[in-house]
Amino acid sequence: MTGDERERTIEALFDEQRQFPPPSWFKEQALVTTEDIYKAADSDVEGWWAKQADSVVWRKRWEKVLDWSDPPFAKWFVGAKLNITESCLDRHVAEHPDRVAYYWEGEPGDTRTITYADLHAEVCQAANALVELGLTKGDRVAIYMGMVPELPIALLACARLGLVHSVVFGGFSADALADRIEDAQAKAVITCDGAWRAGSVIPLKDMADEAISRTSSVESVVVVRRCGNEVNMLEGRDHYWHDLVYRQPRSIDAVECDSEDLLYLLYTSGTTAKPKGIVHTIGGYLVGTSFTHRYVFDIHDDDVYWCTADIGWVTGHSYIVYAPLANGATSVIYEGVPQYPDKDRFWAIVERYKVTKLYTAPTAIRTFMKWGDEYPARHDLSSLKLLGTVGEPINPEAWMWYHEKIGGGRCPIVDTWWQTETGQILISPLPGVTTTKPGSATFPLPGIAADVVDEAGNSVPLGSGGYLVLKRPWPAMLRTIYGDPGRYVDTYWRRFSKPDEGKWVYFAGDGAKRDEDGYYWLLGRVDDVMNVSGHRISTLEVESALVDHPAVAEAAVVGRADERTGQAIAAFVTLKGGVSGDDQLITELREHVSNKIGKIARPASIVFTDELPKTRSGKIMRRLLRDISERRQLGDVTTLANADVVHEIAEQASNLSNSEE
Ligand code: PRX
Repeated sequence: MTGDERERTIEALFDEQRQFPPPSWFKEQALVTTEDIYKAADSDVEGWWAKQADSVVWRKRWEKVLDWSDPPFAKWFVGAKLNITESCLDRHVAEHPDRVAYYWEGEPGDTRTITYADLHAEVCQAANALVELGLTKGDRVAIYMGMVPELPIALLACARLGLVHSVVFGGFSADALADRIEDAQAKAVITCDGAWRAGSVIPLKDMADEAISRTSSVESVVVVRRCGNEVNMLEGRDHYWHDLVYRQPRSIDAVECDSEDLLYLLYTSGTTAKPKGIVHTIGGYLVGTSFTHRYVFDIHDDDVYWCTADIGWVTGHSYIVYAPLANGATSVIYEGVPQYPDKDRFWAIVERYKVTKLYTAPTAIRTFMKWGDEYPARHDLSSLKLLGTVGEPINPEAWMWYHEKIGGGRCPIVDTWWQTETGQILISPLPGVTTTKPGSATFPLPGIAADVVDEAGNSVPLGSGGYLVLKRPWPAMLRTIYGDPGRYVDTYWRRFSKPDEGKWVYFAGDGAKRDEDGYYWLLGRVDDVMNVSGHRISTLEVESALVDHPAVAEAAVVGRADERTGQAIAAFVTLKGGVSGDDQLITELREHVSNKIGKIARPASIVFTDELPKTRSGKIMRRLLRDISERRQLGDVTTLANADVVHEIAEQASNLSNSEE
């Protein structure tokens, strides 16, 4: 979105007068119903987080809640010892072994019901298997799987041993996997033969083989057989999960970890071509995620909670694996796509498992809206009590549809703002307290100090927009970028901090506006990061994938507004001399990006142009390209070195239909 466009959108949002106080039936049963919790947190924030920390299991308590003596490198629950799986598994096995941890449903329709006792046993078996492979505390393990039960089990098995997991979303390419394996120097890879997607098999093991062949650190590969597709197994290196894991003992002592030991790496796109390995540690992450999960989703023992994200993203790490298990919740995991075998699959699942709390993405909601009301109407959705969204701003129209057609007009909606880096939800309603406005994530949660500032870092008055920042550390925050602390400081803390005055301010990369009532309205990224279907993709990453193709001389990529996916990727490509651009090359380039990064990064449209519009200093004018992509009236182009080219590109782009199938 351009600044103007954003301004128009937000003005439209501000016309949004509808308000939804917590329904009285909800309030009567809610965990939190008054604003006292915000005051309690503000009056002694560290003491208050320490109280929240009492709800998880520690082997040794901390000496200090927060060490912020070397900013921006935070330490939480300093000196404490724990193993996160004792909070997620052992205590529940002791108290309610037969409670269901996961109802798992495969895309073809097969199901598994996994109790806390079952989960504990299989996690221990998997951990014993990893010990047999020679892995020890601190080793990195790359995980590249579909949404099978063995995926959360693999994460937890690593955590049981103090191994650091690095999950790579199954939709990423072999190249992307190779980069991540290499950066983390992973010693083992856990994968599947294949993953089901809309009735076909994605050959994960083949892609993992290709990736591993380009790396040097991998000693063992464990393969879950899911789809039965043929795979190559390398003698001595590769092991089937069922051969290796199920013969192991069903218990193993959890390895004692420090609160600040690494729990996982999760790579995310930034404003350069190289993804960043976001580092999360154990103690603070457990406290921050379990607190927010319990209170944002108002989790009770009899809830059936379903977060539809993939575990390959942070939403899955925090709100499918660690927090729900720490809270002893019963969750649903679904393996496949929402349109298989028909477009009512999600609603069939809600009905089948009597889901009470549903957490999904605006892009999914907009897709469901487009498919039509008849699909949810086929099912009894009366079990639902609360709905959540995450990943991108939700437009009021989609919010209202979600509220009425899915929530039956009775369920509060929590629009939750957070990031891979923040680890936990930071801005969201508390459903028993907050009056919501469709399209607004409302307020920072208790203990969170957010602000909206101008270029100079000064708070802007209510009613204005600016940059979203965080002014105080929070427990689940990232600790650094793996292997690159300088980049951590530069990316997140350089822009608005004033180290001389002792002021450290985290810049989220998002624009936001507060209305007269102080409600936060998120406006999307202000940097060169696109948000496609709630997934973060860097323009530079796609550009460098395009330029990597032998026919391409130069490329510029922008995110243009798209009704369904939020943004769609629009590419402008200059070809090398003698190469002519045709439909065949467009297909080839899209395929090339898919191979370099993953299908999610394929440009929706590609325009060939003799030149890219540049300023006299040689900077590509992305704003203009965005205007062209969104078919807006072009503004003043006289500052351009090559002004004519703009009109040529605009003409070509206007003849273009989306090349996305
Ligand atoms: O731009 C914001 C958007 O998603 C970005 C974070 O992306 P990622 O690290 O992939 O994590 C997504 C899931 C936590 C943010 O910088 N975003 C996330 N949630 C919202 C949002 N934008 C508006 N409203 C939200 N609720």
